[in-house]
Amino acid sequence: MLPESVRIVEVGARDGLQNLPTPTSPETRVQLVNLLSQSGLRHIETGSFVSTEYVPQMADSDKVFQTIKRQCDVVYTALTPNLRGMEDALKAGVDEAAVFASASEGFSQKNINCSIAESLKRFEPVLELARRSNIPVRGYVSCIISCPYDGAITPQQVAEVTKALYQMGCYEVSLGDTVGTGTPLRVKRVLEACGREVPMEHLAAHYHNTYGQALTNIYASLEEGLTVVDSAVAGLGGCPYAPGASGNVATEDVLYLMAGLNIKTGVQMDRLLEASTFICHQLGIRSYSNAGLALQQDRIKYDAALGT
Ligand code: HMG
Ligand code: MG
Repeated sequence: MLPESVRIVEVGARDGLQNLPTPTSPETRVQLVNLLSQSGLRHIETGSFVSTEYVPQMADSDKVFQTIKRQCDVVYTALTPNLRGMEDALKAGVDEAAVFASASEGFSQKNINCSIAESLKRFEPVLELARRSNIPVRGYVSCIISCPYDGAITPQQVAEVTKALYQMGCYEVSLGDTVGTGTPLRVKRVLEACGREVPMEHLAAHYHNTYGQALTNIYASLEEGLTVVDSAVAGLGGCPYAPGASGNVATEDVLYLMAGLNIKTGVQMDRLLEASTFICHQLGIRSYSNAGLALQQDRIKYDAALGT
């Protein structure tokens, strides 16, 4: 049975911009977040408190947090890979933080310069500080299907890291198909394995769309009982340490699918399209969202596309 509603975690201002050849200005990032927050999205990943040597595109995330026009019912979140990141994030005024691990050793080393075990150890004081500061922490597990360095990953490898993050206090663990190679059956196997360790309501789907399978994989995940979906406006996104991987599933495409399935998201397509048009114009690119392009170019406004 499919859920009645789905919570969307918008990652466009972080995942969407972290891999661009030229860093996006803090002013543009602020404007994007402000537009997103007017669309009904309630969960917006707004930046990262990571080393600027690794990801210069996320420099000035403190400025972004301090300048956005906050809506009281929106949770503004950021990535925090270590204690330093969490301290900076707290100073900047984040509502929520996210630690990020990997199911594969190769990606862990490239992305955060340590083994999986070391990363989990590193997250303990991060979660401790967050607890003392009343900040909820989300967890990510990257490479749930395959890794650009290690190849195929087993569902059991994913389940072990997912369980570890949940047990150390992450209220939700987002499962990242970082390279976007997943297909529905493989995704279902991963969810079955993770679901044996962590209740399904504490898991989220974070699927990149390299092979065009992200929407199908989301549908398969809903069938397994998942109700939280990460997506990026205009289908922006990619990880500097997953070469060749394309963007996240587009938020517009997810909205269109959910409307067609009669699943509530609370997000207004027309307002989201304003954010999408803005950021595509700023970046000088065409949207990667099929639904977004159809709606914007041809104004084919099916009833389903306008539902919330
Ligand atoms: P390291 O080099 O091992 O860190 O990097 P270190 O502790 O040895 O410190 C080295 C230098 O970095 C020091 O500066 C630190 O102060 C500084 P120096 O003394 O040389 O001048 N430093 C920091 N600066 C700012 N903020 C910090 C910080 N920590 C140390 N928090 C580290 C380890 C984790 C810092 C680094 O590897 C890093 O920042 N990695 C982030 C990579 C990243 O952001 N990747 C993209 C996000 S993950 C993703 O996209 C996947 C996801 O979307 C899910 C999916 O799709 O699968 C979430
Ligand atoms: Mg990602």
